[in-house]
Amino acid sequence: MQPFPLIFSLLTLNLFFSQLLQLQALETCTSFSCNQRDPILFPFWVPKNQTSRCGYPGFELSCNSYSQTLLSLSSDPLIVRGISYPDQLLWVSDPNHCIPKRVLNLSLSSTPFSFGPYSSPYTFLNCSGSKNPAQLPMGSSVISCLSGPNYTVVATYGGEAEEKMVVKGGEWSCEIIKRVNAAFWWRNMGYGIYPSDMSDVYVQLSWDVPSCVDCFMRGGSCGLVGDSGLQVGCFLPASSGLPNSAKYGLILGAGIPGLLCIVGLTFYISSRISARNQNRRPTNTESSPSIFPQPIILTLGLDGPTIESYPKTILGESKRLPKPSDGTCPICLSDYQPKETLRSIPDCNHYFHADCIDEWLRMNATCPLCRNSPPQSSALDSC
Ligand SMILES: *[C@@H]1O[C@H](CO)[C@@H](O)[C@H](O)[C@H]1NC(C)=O
Ligand SMILES: *[C@@H]1O[C@H](CO)[C@@H](O)[C@H](O)[C@H]1NC(C)=O
Repeated sequence: MQPFPLIFSLLTLNLFFSQLLQLQALETCTSFSCNQRDPILFPFWVPKNQTSRCGYPGFELSCNSYSQTLLSLSSDPLIVRGISYPDQLLWVSDPNHCIPKRVLNLSLSSTPFSFGPYSSPYTFLNCSGSKNPAQLPMGSSVISCLSGPNYTVVATYGGEAEEKMVVKGGEWSCEIIKRVNAAFWWRNMGYGIYPSDMSDVYVQLSWDVPSCVDCFMRGGSCGLVGDSGLQVGCFLPASSGLPNSAKYGLILGAGIPGLLCIVGLTFYISSRISARNQNRRPTNTESSPSIFPQPIILTLGLDGPTIESYPKTILGESKRLPKPSDGTCPICLSDYQPKETLRSIPDCNHYFHADCIDEWLRMNATCPLCRNSPPQSSALDSC
């Protein structure tokens, strides 16, 4: 038997069946979105507005009156901030603006979800007295929503900050509340920048089952097969009416260059990530946190001419800076010295070492202190 016609007919058969399955999926499931923008896809589904064949058990979502998407893992829902279906990741925040409280009490064991996979070890500490976030050691953040007038709850990242704060009889007098492996996310994370307050950041969750990664890679969408049971199938895009020969031509013509682009992009992104990680912790790569490009709030950096257009200052002997900056560069945390070149961000007037902020702005189009976008060549929004 000749192999080619066999392969060809198998492919045709496969396409035929996938179209049948596609029809079935269309019949049983209407697409839905809480915000009219981001469609909710399998395995997630909204029981109020979709049939149970649209999603997988454990992935039920609902909408609130602000058109936000909610996930209820316990009695209190979490707000879904973004879902990356190909990576099987989602980001959630707390409607009451205290996500660390939720993380401390959350039990994921009876849910399809887990923290991470890019989770890091955080230690939550209860310290006596009221602490100024600016005095905390590097790698720690205040959690104002858990703190009271006579105590401050702090999250430390990595062992160093924790050691500094849990010294018996030391200036901090902190007690460990809990150690948690979780992935907290905030705008422009990375580059040694921790939010001064971790109360209202995002937490990343992931799921393994059902796995639709392969299906997404093939350009299909996942769904339940048939009228009952939990068998998951991959629905490839419906035929556009092209003859099969043209379709295979398209796959060869567009698919392979596309694949090369993706491979190139992946290499580019991972080289940038490793460059960033090296910048963060030059000596201690073991505990270096996983920093990945944020798929939901991805901000690209500024171009050279835009950065150059921001005002430069050379510090005099008096080292006096216009308000509201103090004497330390918030990026590299070293004090300003006379004759050093600083750059400020227009509008918000935050000052940094020119070298530090230039590198930052090449990766992030936002001020690292106030987190808003400085004006770019065209858009002039305030910082
Ligand atoms: C979704 O379901 C709820 C409750 O059944 C209903 O009030 C709402 O109008 C539905 N939304 C859409 C867009 O169908
Ligand atoms: C922190 O300690 C204070 C007493 O020092 C206590 O009242 C408070 O509940 C503790 N907070 C947490 C989150 O453990």
